[in-house]
Amino acid sequence: GKVRAPTHIISTISDDRGEEPCYAGVAMSSIVEQGYGVGDVISLLWFKRSLPRYCTKFIEICVMLCADHGPCVSGAHNTIVTARAGKDLVSSLVSGLLTIGPRFGGAVDDAARYFKDAYDRGLTPYEFVESMKKKGIRVPGIGHRIKRGDNRDKRVELLQLFARTNFPSVKYMEYAVQVEAYTLSKANNLVLNVDGAIGTLFLDLLAGSGMFAKQEIDEIVEIGYLNGLFVLARSIGLIGHTFDQKRLKQPLYRHPWEDVLYTK
Ligand code: ACO
Ligand code: LMR
Repeated sequence: GKVRAPTHIISTISDDRGEEPCYAGVAMSSIVEQGYGVGDVISLLWFKRSLPRYCTKFIEICVMLCADHGPCVSGAHNTIVTARAGKDLVSSLVSGLLTIGPRFGGAVDDAARYFKDAYDRGLTPYEFVESMKKKGIRVPGIGHRIKRGDNRDKRVELLQLFARTNFPSVKYMEYAVQVEAYTLSKANNLVLNVDGAIGTLFLDLLAGSGMFAKQEIDEIVEIGYLNGLFVLARSIGLIGHTFDQKRLKQPLYRHPWEDVLYTK
């Protein structure tokens, strides 16, 4: 019989060899004809399956709500400075993206990991938060520079409202709300932030949709797919900031001396 030479690459999400490209077996023409949205395309290319409409809508809401948060946050600031240094679109974009990490926008996966572990082990919010404190780890998904107990993050409220209305179960989200109640009793800035809301709600999406086996959920959480949502979303805003600076013909940025404490 035929002997297939071993390949150097294995790929399972898309195929461009036929008459038209396919995403996870779904042809481009179906994607267009059936009115698929960005959430459907993310489902196909990241999760290799079509997800129910409420799931793809949730993904789209995450992308829309995280697209931008003004010029002062780490990512936008880097992008603005880079664009003003005369760099091109891709350089300005990645300069902003490179700030996404454990403190800014990139705590979604760790929030999912730690909250899942704590909930699945049956830890009370007190036990969870205090065990993290003992380990010297800040709870991912908790805390914000400007949001407070009396000035909550609207994005978190909108995501929670959508999930409460549309998800079959929101057990991880409810756990996160209880954890937030405990952390807020310690300090007013320790709100559930948008990373924590997306991380825990995505656990509910994965567990409640009936579309993923337990082992697949564990793999998604372990590999860390969810920071990708923030990266993807914020790219929209960072590209916008690049165009904005170019349009405004902004000169090279130099930080004012007065705003630096020069000391020994
Ligand atoms: N868990 C436990 N305690 C915390 C947390 C947390 N997540 N965040 C702050 N604290 C406490 C700590 O006691 C901290 O004191 P320490 O510096 O001795 O550890 C104290 O609050 C004061 O914290 P600040 O450093 O003033 O908080 P800051 O405003 O600088 O930090 C930040 C904000 C970076 C978001 C922080 O809360 C944090 O690290 N959170 C976890 C990571 C996270 O979820 N990031 C995503 C934020 S949302 C986004 O970027 C879109
Ligand atoms: C964001 O989405 O960029 C923010 O939550 C971070 C911030 O400091 O406002």
